[in-house]
Amino acid sequence: MYRGISATYLQIARVKLLYTSGILLLGFNVTINKGCLNVGFLTIFPYGNHQVPSLDWRICGTFTQAILILRRPLLALDLGSLFGKKNPPLVGLDISSSSVKLVELSEAGKGKFKLERYAAEPLPRGAVADGNIENIEQVSDAVRRVWKKSGTRAKLAALGMPPASVITKKIILPGGMSEEELEVQVEAEASQYIPFALDEVSLDFDVIGPAQNGPEDVEVLLAATRKEKVEDRVAVAEAAGLTPTVMDIESYAARAAVDRLIVQLPKGGQNQIVALIQIGAQVTHVSMLLDGQVIYEREQPFGGGQLTQDIVRMYGLSYEEAESKKRANDLPDGYKNEVLDPFLENAALEVTRAIQFFFTSTPYTRVDQLLLAGGCAVISGLVDLVADRTKISASVVSPFQGMEIGPDVREKQLRIDAPAYLVACGLAMRRFG
Ligand SMILES: Nc1ncnc2c1ncn2[C@@H]1O[C@H](COP(=O)(O)OP(=O)(O)OP(=O)(O)O)[C@@H](O)[C@H]1O
Ligand SMILES: [Mg+2]
Repeated sequence: MYRGISATYLQIARVKLLYTSGILLLGFNVTINKGCLNVGFLTIFPYGNHQVPSLDWRICGTFTQAILILRRPLLALDLGSLFGKKNPPLVGLDISSSSVKLVELSEAGKGKFKLERYAAEPLPRGAVADGNIENIEQVSDAVRRVWKKSGTRAKLAALGMPPASVITKKIILPGGMSEEELEVQVEAEASQYIPFALDEVSLDFDVIGPAQNGPEDVEVLLAATRKEKVEDRVAVAEAAGLTPTVMDIESYAARAAVDRLIVQLPKGGQNQIVALIQIGAQVTHVSMLLDGQVIYEREQPFGGGQLTQDIVRMYGLSYEEAESKKRANDLPDGYKNEVLDPFLENAALEVTRAIQFFFTSTPYTRVDQLLLAGGCAVISGLVDLVADRTKISASVVSPFQGMEIGPDVREKQLRIDAPAYLVACGLAMRRFG
């Protein structure tokens, strides 16, 4: 079971989905039993050399009371510090259509990161499609391989959900409520926004801060996803011998990774509208960021897989051959003019369109800076073409910029690979909060 907070009552399952810390290593389960709630800590998770003891107790009363009581010891306990080992090693695992990517970070001084290692393993085509895990065995094999190849020893993992499978909603609730009261309130509100039965849903929330229009109120971010989608990812990680402790949303993870970079822009990036464009294998993900908030988000079905298909058609290669020759730039003379350039023009057009959509569907009329990421961002000539067609200053981002680089990392290769690792890096950062 996912190591989040998970209480089951009359089939209402709750899973801690976002925002976690050391306390997340505790999971618990609530079952109803003749008017009493049996409360069992499922936990016994290996934690360094320690085992977390399993506790059991019984509470009579209503579910709501039980939840109120239950969250308290959870919040009060920080297991990391209890065992003198805060932020135990954790890997960020990005499971996407073309590959599984892994990143492990450590802390290099206060608020600074060190890239310990990163690696990727390709996935067979169709193993992950539209963000769904279609073949658990193939994907968990790839996770096992990437873990081994990377040389990490971390057994804890942070995973991401594709944004299209998560419903997020900001709601306003009265301020001054305890977290426990909020929890009850959020669940009541959630049913209005979620088009599935609550028993099929994993739910979590986070208080963002005071509401803009009513300082008495607070803005709360609610996130919900189909339980089966969480369970598929958990199954993949567990089958590969890992313990998933954090489940985030891919676009949130990518944003966390670029937030570090945006503050390095002139004037700390304040009041700047930054377009983050990730061109992957199947999908181009567009997020518009302003002062740490996502103001617009969209996915377009465009990616490097199309270029690979063009190569397959043009040169009669297998998909795998085409993919490897594309990356190695090992194709006949006519390739640039006949195949690559038209693809790059299409890519630039997709970006231009994405910006037009942003202008027509929001009150905003400008983009100040374009950050290009995803595996395709490194294709030679793309960033210049995008800057030329959109007339916006554009650069390729590395999520590891400004980080210390560990001795196991080959820096030259990192420069080529880094832009595809935004999500994996953002997930790995969750080791620290
Ligand atoms: N050096 C390179 N040169 C050209 N193309 C590359 C290079 N590196 C990666 N790519 C392409 O980038 C794409 C993979 O990017 P990325 O890893 O961001 O995608 P993904 O996250 O698996 O896909 P999606 O987000 O669409 O599910 C592939 O089409 C791959 O061929
Ligand atoms: Mg991706």
